[in-house]
Amino acid sequence: MKGVSIAVNEEKCKRDGLCAKVCPMRIFTHSKESYPNIRNPEHCVICGQCLAVCPHGAIEHSTLSGEGLAKISDLHPVSAEAMMAVVRQRRSVRVYKDKEVPREVIEEIARCCGYCPTGAHGGEGWVRNVTVVTGRENLRRVLDYTVEYMKRMKKLLEGVMVKVVSRWSLEARGGLSTLPDLTLRLEEYEQGRDAILYHAPALLFVHAPKDTPTPQADCDAALYAMMLLAHAKGLGTCWMGWVQNAAAGFKIRSFRGLKGFLRVPEHHNVYSAMTLGYPALELHSVPFRETRVTWLSDESSSA
Ligand SMILES: Cc1cc2nc3c(=O)[nH]c(=O)nc-3n(C[C@H](O)[C@H](O)[C@H](O)COP(=O)(O)O)c2cc1C
Repeated sequence: MKGVSIAVNEEKCKRDGLCAKVCPMRIFTHSKESYPNIRNPEHCVICGQCLAVCPHGAIEHSTLSGEGLAKISDLHPVSAEAMMAVVRQRRSVRVYKDKEVPREVIEEIARCCGYCPTGAHGGEGWVRNVTVVTGRENLRRVLDYTVEYMKRMKKLLEGVMVKVVSRWSLEARGGLSTLPDLTLRLEEYEQGRDAILYHAPALLFVHAPKDTPTPQADCDAALYAMMLLAHAKGLGTCWMGWVQNAAAGFKIRSFRGLKGFLRVPEHHNVYSAMTLGYPALELHSVPFRETRVTWLSDESSSA
């Protein structure tokens, strides 16, 4: 990352080479005879592993200040059972109470993105971006834009071109498989029901610069972390596929209205979105969806 300076405080450094072991960009070179050498600090991906692993506080990093680094030992330990319980208990929520979520609660949920994995290599890609939409009028505008996008998408999917292409294109077949879902939601909308945003009191969009290596995965990872935290706080969420596609102009590039309304920078794209609100109904069970685990291990290859 441009402008990053990294130094090793030789008074504190014990030459244990831990920084060299954990740095994914191999910025520290280690030898027992000398303090670590630093090369190509501009390749730093700001993961903070060098600071995290050094028990002597010997790394000085211009971007990662001491205050921005939380001590893991100061945080609540989480048992595997508790973690699994959160993963299992989270369900998509599609019926919400007519109750606002306090701004500070939404902020806290949004800010958890700053701890999520990202494949970005420096610069703007490291900054996590969440746009929060609340307020009846704003949410209605998002809904209207999304419906407009969905109508255009329905027309596209029902056209001859997609039908022909779907004979050989798996992607086109994937698109066609969403047609019943799309039709159902539009029909409900025409009948005055909202089966798109589900009258949720808040919407969160995650966006990222298009010129970073893994923006989709970065935003999805962040969204899922927010969903889990929201659940742990007694809130409900639902992934908003149609809304995120509308905001991204997915497959309909000329559709730019929602992105503009959200004031997402031109060089960014919206990659994921979710509703947020207080669940109106209690859900009592969770299905386990078949998960196939395939092993390539020494045992399986010798069998
Ligand atoms: C990429 C993606 C897009 C989705 N879009 C929608 C959507 O537009 N509307 C909706 O009601 N649910 C949507 N969902 C939620 C799924 O329907 C839901 O996760 C799935 O049915 C499993 O249920 P669960 O979340 O309760 O475990 C989406 C999920 C994903 C991963």
